[in-house]
Order: sequence, then C-alpha cells, then structure tokens
Amino acid sequence: DVARLQQTMALSEVMSSAADWYRQQLKQAPRAVEYLKGRGLTGEIAKRYSLGYAPDGWQGLEAVFGTYANDEIAKTLLEGGLLIQSEQTDNQQTARRYDRFRDRIMFPIRNPKGQVIGFGGRILDQGEPKYLNSPETPLFSKGNTLYGLFEARQAIRAQEYVLVCEGYMDVVALAQLGFPNAVATLGTACTANHVRMLLRQTDRIVFSFDGDAAGQRAAQRALEACLPLMSDDKEIRFLFLPTEHDPDSYVRAYGAPAFEKVIKEAMSLSSFFFKIVSQEHELTTPEGRAHTHHAAKPLLLSMPPIALRTQILREVAIRTNSTPAELESFCGLTVAPAP
Ligand code: UTP
Ligand code: MN
Ligand code: MN
Ligand code: MN
Ligand code: MN
Repeated sequence: DVARLQQTMALSEVMSSAADWYRQQLKQAPRAVEYLKGRGLTGEIAKRYSLGYAPDGWQGLEAVFGTYANDEIAKTLLEGGLLIQSEQTDNQQTARRYDRFRDRIMFPIRNPKGQVIGFGGRILDQGEPKYLNSPETPLFSKGNTLYGLFEARQAIRAQEYVLVCEGYMDVVALAQLGFPNAVATLGTACTANHVRMLLRQTDRIVFSFDGDAAGQRAAQRALEACLPLMSDDKEIRFLFLPTEHDPDSYVRAYGAPAFEKVIKEAMSLSSFFFKIVSQEHELTTPEGRAHTHHAAKPLLLSMPPIALRTQILREVAIRTNSTPAELESFCGLTVAPAP
C-alpha cells in the first residue's frame, strides 16, 4: 500500500517529490505568480529553475506523503528539513509536526547530478527571514553547494567563465537576461570547497557580489578562499556594483550590455589583492607601508609558489617603496645566507 511504499522512500526521492508538488502549487497561486511577474521573471525561466510555491498551511505536504502522524513518513521529512517538530508540551499527546516552508516562493537547490537536495524559500511580502533555507541535512550542506550550478553547467562550459553571485534571484534574473552561466553562494561566505567546485568547471571566475558592505566583505572572503588554489592558468576577477545594486537589480536597471561591460571591466585578482592590503592614504607614511606589508604577508604565504605570487609580491614591494627582496625576507620567503 501507499504507506509502506512511502516508508521506503529515500531522502532524495522525498525532496524531489516535494519540489514537484511546490511547482504544481505555483500554478494555483495567483499571488505567487504575480510576485514573480512583478520581479520581472517569465514563466519560461521559472520553469527552467523549477520555481514553486509552498502554500500557507501547516500540513501541506500531507497531500503528497500522507499523515505526519506516521512516524516513518515524519522521520524522512524531518531529516530532509521539510518538517519541523515542535517541543512536546504536557497537554499534547504527540509533539506537533508542521511544514517548515509556508507561503513562500520555493527555489529548489540541486546537487551537480541534478537531484534536489534543499530549498530556499522567499517571503512574498515584507517579513523575517526574507529567505528561509533548508537546514544542513545528510544531503545538503551550504558550504559545499552552489545554487544553480547544475542549471548553469553547460553555459559555463560554452562561455568559458562562471559568474558567482550571492542570491537566488541574481542567478535566475541573470539567466533570463542572457547570463545563464551564473551561480550563487547562498548568502554564506565563498568557501575553499566552492572555489574547488568552480575550478573543476572552468579556469575563469568573475565574482559578482552585491554592491553593499556585505558584498565587499564577501569579495574579500572569496579572495582569501581563492589564493591557496590559484595557478597561473586561472583568471579570477572581482566585479563591483554601485552600493545600492545587486546583479539582479543592476541588469534590470541598466540592461544586459551594461552588465556585460561591468564584467569586462572587472578588477583583476592582483589589483583587488593590492586594494585589500593597502589603504591608499597610508602609503605615504612608513607606518602605512609597514601595515601594507603586514596585511600582505599572510595572503602571500597562503599562495602556492606560482609566477603570480612573485608578480604580486613585486608589485606590493614597488608600491610600498621597498625591494622585492625586502618584502620576501619580511614574509620569510627567502632563506637568509649562512653567516
Ligand atoms: P540578499 O539580501 O542580497 O537578497 O541576500 P537577494 O538575493 O538580493 O534577494 P531579493 O532580491 O531581495 O529577493 C543574498 C542571499 O543571501 C541569502 C539568500 O541566499 C539570498 O539570496 N539570505 C538572505 C538568506 O539565506 N536569508 C535571508 O534572510 C537573507
Ligand atoms: Mn545583500
Ligand atoms: Mn536582490
Ligand atoms: Mn542581493
Ligand atoms: Mn590597514
């Protein structure tokens, strides 16, 4: 019977069935469709990214999986982060189980094989949190997942670079407006694992974070994650948008050709490196130049001994009125001659 069949459902099947159901629910939710249209999204792109809608109820997924009173069903749904189990109280026989995602636009998150492993759910109106994400589960870990990588893989190969953004909406909007080679780190810092995953797909990365302070910090973290993994055949660049914009809002406000231009003019890794380690105004003083060496040292030491490291070191040295040998020795990169 149905109940026994569902007992044997693996976590990944449960996630995929839930995604199908959310997708169907979108068709019956004019408010959600209007929201997506209001964000400028077409039905075609919603379909390509399997966007859905989680209805506003506490037991919606019972329609797919059967009653949550069934411990076997509840176990898998809890494991997948689709259900929340409330604390048991004195006057309750059983702990209450209810849907995590309610009245939200649903973005299914896939692994590189295309299997749904988690969700991001956006609130339609104002409210907190703006995005609710799946918790860490046996299938889903944020630091090892890039939203949109499965959908973008072919385009990354074809365009020979990847755009890395912060958010779900950035990826989907960019894909619609002619940049299908975009992925997102889902608000978390870009990790070494993310960079490894990206470099398996392409030699060229353009980080394209929000123009605000959080985006600036994200770019710095991304630089730190990239340096240990650099080689001389890789090209990593950083794109900076006006403070009030993210890729989604920028491409909608100024159009695809303008964004294309911003991509072309993105800052090189070496320029961004120098920007991070120096505060330009400090370079006129010995203290400022020393501070720059101090900030550059751990970053240089995190790099493998590639030609780019030598070049960046030389650049930092020259711009701080030092010789490369002096900076090398400060970093402990040269062995002092025997006395
Ligand atoms: P942003 O605040 O920049 O949101 O967060 P956004 O992507 O531009 O969203 P819209 O345009 O308002 O719809 C960037 C990313 O950080 C994560 C999400 O992955 C989001 O896409 N985030 C943000 C959360 O996980 N939870 C939040 O409450 C907010
Ligand atoms: Mn932001
Ligand atoms: Mn946005
Ligand atoms: Mn944003
Ligand atoms: Mn400083």
